[in-house]
Amino acid sequence: GAAELGPYRHFMQKEIFEQPRAIADTLEGVEGFVPDLFGDDAERILSEVDSVLILACGTSYYAGSVAKYWLESIAKIATQVEIASEYRYRDSVPNPRCLIVTISQSGETADTLAALKHARALGMPHSLTICNVATSAMVRECELAYITRAGVEIGVASTKAFTTQLGGLFLLTLTLAKLRGHLSAEQESQWMRDLRHLPAALQGVLALEPQIIAWAEDFAKKDNALFLGRGQHYPIALEGALKLKEISYIHAEAYPAGELKHGPLALVDSSMPVVTIAPNDALVDKLKSNMQEVRARGGELYVFADADSRIESAPGIHAIRMPEHYGALSPILHVVPLQLLAYHTACARGTDVDKPRNLAKSVTVE
Ligand code: G6P
Repeated sequence: GAAELGPYRHFMQKEIFEQPRAIADTLEGVEGFVPDLFGDDAERILSEVDSVLILACGTSYYAGSVAKYWLESIAKIATQVEIASEYRYRDSVPNPRCLIVTISQSGETADTLAALKHARALGMPHSLTICNVATSAMVRECELAYITRAGVEIGVASTKAFTTQLGGLFLLTLTLAKLRGHLSAEQESQWMRDLRHLPAALQGVLALEPQIIAWAEDFAKKDNALFLGRGQHYPIALEGALKLKEISYIHAEAYPAGELKHGPLALVDSSMPVVTIAPNDALVDKLKSNMQEVRARGGELYVFADADSRIESAPGIHAIRMPEHYGALSPILHVVPLQLLAYHTACARGTDVDKPRNLAKSVTVE
């Protein structure tokens, strides 16, 4: 009812604005990156595994796709991510020392549960879930768990569940990094400081809402949109495109920016807005040349830069600067303006934001 919504128009908007609290709750009580965070037998199990296979659907799959970058670069552990409904039906080569990681807001998604059981039947006994519902089937079925504390999510388009999943996955990354000897005491305390600052950093990003509302007026008039990201922000581009599709019904696609010239550039003209996720990282210069390729075809760029990336608004380039630069944790911040862009575009188009047509919050049948 209206009372629960407080000052917000929809649950999705309320849940977007709950993210600082949701992340703070999810990380509450974490004093170090220790196996105990994941359950009683975690030290033995996490020491035994030599690789990770992440299984999930929808937005949870994109959280897993970000985690792959973290796990390989920080914990130096080989990681695969697979859509649960594909994995469960294909022939694959099992590795008994692989850790199966399922990610699920509800803990009841039929395909993700079936993929987990499939992996176990293939002889992979070790499993861990990042899940938002402690009493769910997923938590019962997995050996280990990290329960995110997003709280009940009502909007069909997932927001706070995603950012808290990323929080849990980052804890898993650092725990594996430490066990495997890839985390110095100094790095450990720096990561802890960065994690503790996340709620405040998220507040800073939420304050960009008025600028994003102005962009949403443009987007509401479009039929298509392209999202570009590179590295760990490529899955964030995918998630931004998914959000826009789900609630505004605008056709949106995401590409890793280096792939532009292998196809999507053919679609770019003045009617195609191109959203670019552009934090200052090792790939920012390459991304800038991808942006030039778009400009040369008359494409209109909407860029989310960060405090350190030198990208300014110019003819055909609209830039919003995120208040900080956040390194490896940047995906947790960069997804938020994309959630707001999808939300306000949907509002401008007058769609049923919290209950988009044809979609369900939890898909418990195949
Ligand atoms: C549905 C929801 C999505 C969600 C996906 C996976 O499609 O609409 O928001 O990402 O299911 O759900 P899960 O509960 O497993 O994260």
